[in-house]
Amino acid sequence: MHVISIDQFNRENLFELFERTKKLEKIFYSKDGRLELAKKHRDKQICTLFYEPSTRTRLSFETAGYKLGFGVVSTESAGEFSSASKGETIEDTIHVLDEYKFSAIIIRHPETGMVGRAAKVAKTPVINAGDGKGEHPTQSLLDLYTIYFNFNRLDNLTVTIGGDLKYGRTARSLAKILSKFDGNHIKFVSTKSLAIDKDIKDFLKKNDTTFEEITDIESGIKDSDVVYWTRLQKERLAESDKHLASGFVIDKKAMRLMKKDSILLHPLPRVDEITIGVDDDPRAKYFDQAGNGLFIRMALLDQIASEEN
Ligand code: CP
Repeated sequence: MHVISIDQFNRENLFELFERTKKLEKIFYSKDGRLELAKKHRDKQICTLFYEPSTRTRLSFETAGYKLGFGVVSTESAGEFSSASKGETIEDTIHVLDEYKFSAIIIRHPETGMVGRAAKVAKTPVINAGDGKGEHPTQSLLDLYTIYFNFNRLDNLTVTIGGDLKYGRTARSLAKILSKFDGNHIKFVSTKSLAIDKDIKDFLKKNDTTFEEITDIESGIKDSDVVYWTRLQKERLAESDKHLASGFVIDKKAMRLMKKDSILLHPLPRVDEITIGVDDDPRAKYFDQAGNGLFIRMALLDQIASEEN
C-alpha cells in the first residue's frame, strides 16, 4: 500500500489505524513493551528520502522505525546528497531502491506530485512525507488522531483552520479529512491573499461540509472546539506573494477568546504566529500533537510491514 493522499482514508480505515496506534502505545508503556516492539520487524528495513528539510516528520518516522526494530537507511537533503544532484530522475532512484527490498520508502519532495510520481513506478510501498503545496497525509493522520484523543469523536466539531491556507499543505489536507465525518463546520481564517483554494472549497461542498471564510481573528477562533494554526510557508510563496505576512498571531489575549474546553493545534514548526507565552496554557496541545506523530507513524509502518507478510 502506498500512502500518497489523505483521500485514501475513510472512517473505517482511519479508526483501524487509530486502534493500532493505541495498541502500540499501550505496549510501548507496558513492562518490557519496548523490548517486545523492538523485536517486531528486526529483519526489515525502511528508507527515508528527504529532498526538503524536516525535523518532526523525518525524525519521527526514523524513530518509529527503530522502535519497531526496523533498520533505517536515510538521506536528508537528498537533492544535494543523492544522485539527484547528478541528474538522476526520481523514477530511476526508485527502481534502484526497489532492488534493496525495503518495507517502505518515505519521501518528502518540494515539488507537488513528485511523491505520487515515485509511487507510480515503485514496487515498494511509498509514503508521502509532504510534496510541495500538495499533501502531507501522515500529518493529517496525527492531527486527526490528536482531535480524536481530546474529544473522543470526530463528528459535530467546529474547527478553525487559520494562517497561510494558500500554501499550507497541512491545512488543505485537514479540511479534506474533516469532511469525511458528519456535522463538522470549518472556519477558515486568513488574510484575503492567503485564502484557501477553490478546489478545497469545492471538495467540502461536494461532501456537504459547511464552512465560512473569516478575516478577523476574534470571530475566527471564538466558539471553535479546535483551533488549528499554521505559519506562513515562506519557502513556497510565489514571487508575487513574497511581500505577504500571515497577519495573525495567537497570544495570551487571543487565548482568552477561545472556549475553555477547546484545543489549540499547530503542525509546527512555529515561527511567530503563536507566542511562546501561550505554551503553558493547558489548551495548547501542539507538542502533544507532534508526540502523537511518533505513534501514528509506528502504526502505519507496522500495518504496511504486516501486509508484506
Ligand atoms: N509538521 C512537519 O511536517 O514538520 P517538519 O517539517 O519538521 O517535518
